Amino acid sequence: MSVLLEARDIRVSFRKENQTRLFGRERQQVLRGIDLTLKEGECLGIIGESGSGKSTLGRVLSGLLKPEQGTIEICGHSLYGRHTREETHFLQHVLSVVFQDYTSSANPRFRVSSIIGESLRALERATGKSLDRKRRVAELLEQVGLPANFATRYPHELSGGQLQRVCIARALAVEPRIILLDEAISSLDASTQVQVMDLLDALRKELSLSYLFITHDLTSITYICDRVVFMNMGEIVERVDDMTQISAIHSPYARRLLQAVMGIGAEHGSTAA
Ligand SMILES: Nc1ncnc2c1ncn2[C@@H]1O[C@H](COP(=O)(O)OP(=O)(O)OP(=O)(O)O)[C@@H](O)[C@H]1O
Ligand SMILES: [Mg+2]
Repeated sequence: MSVLLEARDIRVSFRKENQTRLFGRERQQVLRGIDLTLKEGECLGIIGESGSGKSTLGRVLSGLLKPEQGTIEICGHSLYGRHTREETHFLQHVLSVVFQDYTSSANPRFRVSSIIGESLRALERATGKSLDRKRRVAELLEQVGLPANFATRYPHELSGGQLQRVCIARALAVEPRIILLDEAISSLDASTQVQVMDLLDALRKELSLSYLFITHDLTSITYICDRVVFMNMGEIVERVDDMTQISAIHSPYARRLLQAVMGIGAEHGSTAA
């Protein structure tokens, strides 16, 4: 399997809030040297507690936040380097993102056709080709398991699961190779989560996609991911390359997360504390 994305030594800090001095220089290190790779066709889980830096890493990997240090290469192109026009266009649509908050990420005043159409227009700009947008919207809706006539609906006329499917269709519209999902299923109820994960799994095979799957929920990681990294306070503290071995993780932090959902680790006594 070839490497699609490679991040090396990613470091990000933010100015600390609530500083007594107006121009205080204290900084909070949010990412402290992250290394990871995503291979073609795989789903890499990124798990960690709230505040561990997952979304910040997601923003860095999707080109939204330039890190203070480190490099990211996608298909051999440096994400924050100097680009030719072609590289810029390629990097704009090679990776797309689906966020947790589907209600605010879909404009309530736009119909589904316009929400997805916006991404199709972006693809047209990037490739210089024109698309039959109406037909593509219908195809994309079908791909995410929704009827084509949903194109005329507004977001408030859809359930949470249906709206998240629309957001997935919008992410697919740019024909990406990688989709970054940041807590994309976390707001859905358990059975809808399973349905959306099954959809993601089917799309992965059908469209040769790879996923970066960010979550704080280990249950979903074990359901959909091939590999997982555990993040704690801006560092990767454990990597699992074979999900059948997940119960053999070492770090106390990862064991604590695992124990919380599966009751695994208690038998290892104090190491799991
Ligand atoms: N733009 C910003 N300015 C200042 N601090 C920030 C900024 N973005 C994130 N942080 C801080 O960085 C830390 C990591 O935040 P991040 O959103 O990456 O965590 P997370 O792992 O995604 O958490 P959650 O599971 O709650 O989504 C937090 O302490 C947060 O307050
Ligand atoms: Mg987050």
